[in-house]
Amino acid sequence: MNRREFLLSGVAALVISSPAAAQMQDHSKHGMDMPGMSPGDGKTAVPAASPVLPEGAPLRDLPRLANRASGPGRFEADLTAKPAIARFAEGVETPILAYDGETPGPLIEVTEGDKVAIRFANRLQGEETTIHWHGMPVPADQDGNPMDPVASGADRLYAFELPEGSAGSYWYHPHPHGRTAEQVYRGLAGAFIVKPRQDPIPAAYGDTPLFFTDLRLASDGSIPPNTMADLMNGRVGDHVLVNGQKKPVLTLPAGSWRRFRLFNASNGRFLRLTFGTAPITLIGSDGGLLEAPVPGLRVIDLAPAERAEVVVAFDQPGQVVLRTEDVDHGWMGPGRPDTAADLMTIDVTADRAETAPALPAKLRRIADLGPPVATRRLEFTETMSMGEGGMKMGFLINGASFDMNRVDVVAKAGQTELWEIANLADMDHPFHLHGTQFQPVETERDGRVSKAPYRAWKDTINVARGETVRLLVRQEQPGLRMYHCHILEHEQLGMMGVVEVRA
Ligand code: C2O
Ligand code: CU
Ligand code: CU
Repeated sequence: MNRREFLLSGVAALVISSPAAAQMQDHSKHGMDMPGMSPGDGKTAVPAASPVLPEGAPLRDLPRLANRASGPGRFEADLTAKPAIARFAEGVETPILAYDGETPGPLIEVTEGDKVAIRFANRLQGEETTIHWHGMPVPADQDGNPMDPVASGADRLYAFELPEGSAGSYWYHPHPHGRTAEQVYRGLAGAFIVKPRQDPIPAAYGDTPLFFTDLRLASDGSIPPNTMADLMNGRVGDHVLVNGQKKPVLTLPAGSWRRFRLFNASNGRFLRLTFGTAPITLIGSDGGLLEAPVPGLRVIDLAPAERAEVVVAFDQPGQVVLRTEDVDHGWMGPGRPDTAADLMTIDVTADRAETAPALPAKLRRIADLGPPVATRRLEFTETMSMGEGGMKMGFLINGASFDMNRVDVVAKAGQTELWEIANLADMDHPFHLHGTQFQPVETERDGRVSKAPYRAWKDTINVARGETVRLLVRQEQPGLRMYHCHILEHEQLGMMGVVEVRA
């Protein structure tokens, strides 16, 4: 029996190994509901009585982390992770984990070239954590690796300098061993924008981050723990929030051009974004601007952790709905949720905006990484085996589950490599690498190869089931770096490895 047949048959209890099982036990100790252990219960941790979230409020700006540095070229701040109470729905209080009391956490905005020093305080109760600066070129010992935990009650300084050319839309989130998924779905994640010194995008377009997070609420307002279906498929909750709000409204005059930074900060939700019939111009990827705008797109696909920068023109008065279409990324077992949802309304009013300046034809140059001197192959697999007490699932890279004390790949700083990520599994897995941005080269499926249509800096890329994706990778700084599936439940279940970059 293969895995899919087994799941569909729904006959036996599943046993999920190590950290996940430990986490579930933790929850039961703390008196939280035990998630269903049967694969047959689909996604339904929360029955119909799920609280109703208010909709239609004006889109809020993300709160900002204040810079208390006195001179230019520096960003200095404090940031605290601690339990907080959120009021997502009328009449219920939701215990969350938050950076500075907010979810999403405060927007951190700096300029390329800045020296950044963030003093972090872990005030989570009885849990270690780290802050990982997702996608950013920071030294390995400042990057919040699971090997560098900050104990509950402890403080640490994260300090790094952001080089020229690093402008882009990044984010930050915890990365402690075995608890990343839970800390993120309980509220710990925020946007980190590095602005260029010279921005080629007209200021008249504005610059609006839209930070998408996933939320599931139980009827008492609490955030339920992951179920077995969440662990297998990646958590998909009941709501997609935009900057922490359900279906906010953005009001713009007709003729407006807007620049949006789109962040998929959900644990396991695939987004396929559309702005009604308005054409989308892609101007940037995870690691900043493209070389030239890519106009005329209808959808932007964002796997968990991916980002994009887009420009959208709102010509006619009326309503435009930012929506995510349903995506099937290879759901295991019954109960695949319909993931289509309206996310935000853009109310285009009849008063005309001033004529916006045109988007420049060239945005910047992206370095040629040159020919690779080494090739790596990583294979994603999912396994089911009979173990003590039932079937055991594994999410593996090159046949191995994550081990913090094992180095899986040794690379050399400054050397270009070709990384080949082959997905031999039944589900899509978004591949993420720490420490650097990479350049997609091509995708192979059923022996057909499609070249990447343009050069782009990426740190996360979806590798669909049955696909092989090839990337050019160059790590500039020595140290231990993680690579993993960014469905955080899969990362937790072991789909992660370590590359040691040597000087
Ligand atoms: Cu966004 Cu290893 O993480
Ligand atoms: Cu990362
Ligand atoms: Cu995965």
